[in-house]
Amino acid sequence: MLRVVVCVSGGGTNLQAVIDGVKAGSIRNTEIVRVISNNKNAYALQRAEENGIAAVCVCPADYVSREVFHQALLAAVEEAEPDLIVLAGFLVVIPQEMTARYRNRIINIHPSLIPSFCGTGYYGLRVHEAALERGVRLTGATVHFVDEGTDTGPIILQKAVEVKEGDTPEVLQKRVMEEAEWKILPQAIDEIAGGLIEIKDGKCRRTDQ
Ligand code: GAR
Repeated sequence: MLRVVVCVSGGGTNLQAVIDGVKAGSIRNTEIVRVISNNKNAYALQRAEENGIAAVCVCPADYVSREVFHQALLAAVEEAEPDLIVLAGFLVVIPQEMTARYRNRIINIHPSLIPSFCGTGYYGLRVHEAALERGVRLTGATVHFVDEGTDTGPIILQKAVEVKEGDTPEVLQKRVMEEAEWKILPQAIDEIAGGLIEIKDGKCRRTDQ
């Protein structure tokens, strides 16, 4: 069983897609052992509770410094003894100590086709605002491993989504979630659990191809 910790900050629709995938058996050999939020009010915490998953909040405001918050976050992760950490809308920059400790064992879902509209400052609705501003006809989502950079790690899966006439950032965000994020995040976890993904020369490769 792949022991997964899911880190969240907000609504948790990606968390829900993972919970549903595990329940339905489309994500195989996987157990969500803990949900961690940096935000006490995250609806994602309720989703965890409703599904009987242990959830903890590690909130920066409760700690005297960023350093102490980082230690608490790492402790909350380590206690759960995860094989994989899934960042599902987690809007905290991952401390270097954590990327080093869990190298190639942290994945993130980003709501664009990396390397477009990613990096510092590109998160949530802002990504879709930037895509509409630029006038791209295609956008999408990416699941990637997390390294020391922001959205720079090896890419596991991507899925393109059409931009339509008259889209607002909110409408586009919803389409990207429905058509891409909620599909490729569960798929990536299933493939990792199945041992199908390896990293070679800084890129992901499938072991069965
Ligand atoms: C998702 O669109 C996710 O891709 C994005 O935040 C949203 C969280 O929604 N993440 C980022 O922008 C990370 N850079 P959710 O809480 O409903 O899953």
